[in-house]
Amino acid sequence: QGSARNIAIFGAGYIGLVTAACFARLGHRVTVRDIQPERVRLLQAGDVPIYEPGLGELLADNKESLTYTLDASEAVRDAHVAYICVDTPPTASGDADLSRVWSVIDSLRGATHLAAVVVKSTVPVGTGARIRAALDSAGLQHVGYASNPEFTAEGRAVTDFLQPDRIVVGTDDPDTAELVAGLHAGIHGPVQTMDVASAEMVKLASNALLATKITFINEIATVCEATGADVTRVADAVGLDHRLGRHFLNAGLGYGGSCFPKDSRALRAMASNSGYSFQLLNAVIEVNDLQPRRAVQRLKSELGTLRDKRIALLGMTFKPGTDDMREAPSTVMASRLLAEGADLTCWDPMARPADTAPWNQAERRPTVLEALTGADAAVIVTEWHDLLDTDWAAARSLMRTPVLFDGRNVLDPDTLGRFGYTCMSVGRATVRP
Ligand code: UDX
Repeated sequence: QGSARNIAIFGAGYIGLVTAACFARLGHRVTVRDIQPERVRLLQAGDVPIYEPGLGELLADNKESLTYTLDASEAVRDAHVAYICVDTPPTASGDADLSRVWSVIDSLRGATHLAAVVVKSTVPVGTGARIRAALDSAGLQHVGYASNPEFTAEGRAVTDFLQPDRIVVGTDDPDTAELVAGLHAGIHGPVQTMDVASAEMVKLASNALLATKITFINEIATVCEATGADVTRVADAVGLDHRLGRHFLNAGLGYGGSCFPKDSRALRAMASNSGYSFQLLNAVIEVNDLQPRRAVQRLKSELGTLRDKRIALLGMTFKPGTDDMREAPSTVMASRLLAEGADLTCWDPMARPADTAPWNQAERRPTVLEALTGADAAVIVTEWHDLLDTDWAAARSLMRTPVLFDGRNVLDPDTLGRFGYTCMSVGRATVRP
């Protein structure tokens, strides 16, 4: 255990690069292979193509141990372990598209030193068994197989990797279990060894339960609105029960991002394929889809109509601290507001400029105050820290009508009411001036 290994990482995306940087930091020699020439060129030049705190430093500090290549056979030539970190986007049927995983498996034939193939990509349960069979028929019976799912959240991926709650290793072979656990020597975190299918399920079940927790509090929030209760007070007190915990009990405009929406639909599709309707997950997905639409509807009731109203969307990314716009609730909000005839201004400190609908129809402004200027209402969609630092008392006079929809419950409605705003939020009473 604990000896330095040669690791080939397939996929220089967000997970692949974090895994590569952390394994290099733990003393392993890492070759990262990606199919996008531009991405490989950037990495070779010392640039980091994605934003993730600490990642750039970690890659730079360990650059002696890191190689980047387009060539799969170069990546596996000396590798003891091949780590598959490619993306598995949904197909039209909602199943995961595994074509990138299969093309990596196909490229492993020439690997003479290979002792194990490890999948980190999120895959349907049963994929490992199929990969095992494919390895066997490719003459790689001696190569072990393991599932080693990741549980990293964007914005804290490096910390999550180096200080994990648990390391899950799914394999049917004790030597492979020891090898994969050994790669993580130096990390303090319990290693949970289990069969391949269970490891694959841990990932999907964890994300589905977190998505369920968020959706549960969003439904409680809706009932709070109807009954006069305050969802933040409820969540704080509910969360003090150590069996429940306060994490992921923030009501808001719903979850987005690259994992929860995709993984919950993938788990639902997997259940459906076996003839089972996963009813709880169906409801979670449906309620989450409704969440931004409901917010638009509430804003419409407040303003009478949205036609020709100028709405400022504050925050565009799916959460703060990232430039990631994947499945961001802001996109649904923007699209719905435009459909209702509203004019949009928007602000975000990190989102990359988008030239596609609906964002090409919104006027992006460089500061919060400029986005608010002339607005009939503003919506906090992503709880960026800048919004807490905004001088809301001064901002009021910039708006045509001072209506603020705090979609993440980060501001104090009573204070805003005193400043002269109508403050709407999720699961709390609307405060009027
Ligand atoms: C998530 C998981 O946390 C991670 O373990 C998994 O590996 C990948 O998916 P990530 O998508 O980066 O990570 O973001 P996370 O911080 O978990 O937030 C996901 C979404 O849920 C965001 O849109 C966030 O705004 C929303 N959310 C989160 C809430 O609405 N309320 C909460 O209380 C928590």
